[in-house]
Amino acid sequence: MSASGQRIHWASRMGFILAAAGSAVGLGNIWKFPYITGVHGGGAFVLVYLACIALVGMPIMMAEFLIGRHGQRDPVGSFESLAGKGSPWKLVGWGAVAASFILLSFYAVVAGWSLDYVVKAATGALAGRPAEEISNLFGQLVSSPWQVIFWQALFMVLTMAIVHGGVGKGIERWSKILMPLLFLLLLLLFGRAMLSPGAKEGLAFMFAPDFSKLTPAALLDALGHAFFTLSLGAGSMITYGSYLDARSDLFSLSLRITVLDTLIAMFAGLAIFPIVFAAGLEPSAGPGLVFQTIPIVFSELPFGSVLALLFFLLFAFAALSSSISMLEVSVAYLIDEKNWPRPRATWLLGSGALLLGIPSALSFNRWSEVKPLFGKTFFDFFDMLISSYMLPLGGLCVAVYAGWFWKGEEEKTELLGERKRPWLFPLWHFLLRYVAPAAVLIIILNQTGVFGA
Ligand code: TRP
Repeated sequence: MSASGQRIHWASRMGFILAAAGSAVGLGNIWKFPYITGVHGGGAFVLVYLACIALVGMPIMMAEFLIGRHGQRDPVGSFESLAGKGSPWKLVGWGAVAASFILLSFYAVVAGWSLDYVVKAATGALAGRPAEEISNLFGQLVSSPWQVIFWQALFMVLTMAIVHGGVGKGIERWSKILMPLLFLLLLLLFGRAMLSPGAKEGLAFMFAPDFSKLTPAALLDALGHAFFTLSLGAGSMITYGSYLDARSDLFSLSLRITVLDTLIAMFAGLAIFPIVFAAGLEPSAGPGLVFQTIPIVFSELPFGSVLALLFFLLFAFAALSSSISMLEVSVAYLIDEKNWPRPRATWLLGSGALLLGIPSALSFNRWSEVKPLFGKTFFDFFDMLISSYMLPLGGLCVAVYAGWFWKGEEEKTELLGERKRPWLFPLWHFLLRYVAPAAVLIIILNQTGVFGA
């Protein structure tokens, strides 16, 4: 991926799939999905989320890949090469660069916690303790500003080190082993949860919808999370698509990534909620939910310490393969548009994101009562700004561009190549033209109370 000359591409099709799936699967699946499902009361929220994934998320994922592959540049450059120099569509690229940068700043805070849990598991701090003590460990960690910032910084250094070498290297090799392992371990946890006394209650919580719990805020979170978990609306998939050259079949790739991502989130939820109920915890416990429940399960299993170590290692790895896809967006921008060398772009932007993330790190301790914006801590404000607004709006613009403005024939060739799937283009176009924009607009306006509360 050099500034001049030949653009570097993925070494193999597999490399691309793993990197894109690695971007999608992350904290969103294992940490955020269970936590917001808990906050919004389960079943009905899960249904809306699934509908958003299928009708809005996946079509936009395809559009992002296609825009990147066609443009062969970072999001700003890709929109420029598609829509012409000086076109206002470049703004969408800018929005994506900004969103991915802000997102990285607070993502690294939570990812840092997972590193601390790796150490906790390795030193046996999670073993042989009563459930309550284990769940209190989370509060002890996040209440210490220095610990949180230390782990956040370490995680950012790891992210920068990988992006420095280029996302193709390393990721491809590691993901092949680690992604299936993560999946297996989640299956094991799921199996264990099904045997626990909370199994029935956990299943009912996730799958029996109670529509009275669907507030406008829950709808917005479900929509926003569909973007978050599929890495949409902030340029990651455009950037990864730009490193594709082969005429790979982006429909079936997007389908596989979407299904995998959804399965992992569902298994994480199904592993966690039964334990929540069995241990008498609150499903709405918030950001600490995963950290407070999963170690309890392991502490009761044979070889629990080893498994807990493995779990948090894989969890941290999943976060890392996502964070690199966030940093890569702005790094690609500086390389492609400003001719910067990759190392300089990486370390400068990475350090900037680390600094910007410090108020988010302090939101759980020293500044937990500092709520300068909309009555929210810095962390909650940034999360709301990105997840509920910037990602859906970024995705909306992508949908509108690909649905209404991209020249039909060019777009069709990009999507279908040599393949004949007569139903695909019309269906995809319909979802992009009408369904995705309507969903985003209605849900956002509903939240602001335009339709009356
Ligand atoms: N999808 C990732 C997760 O679930 C996070 C992520 C990576 C992301 N790149 C993104 C979210 C771009 C939005 C936009 O953890």
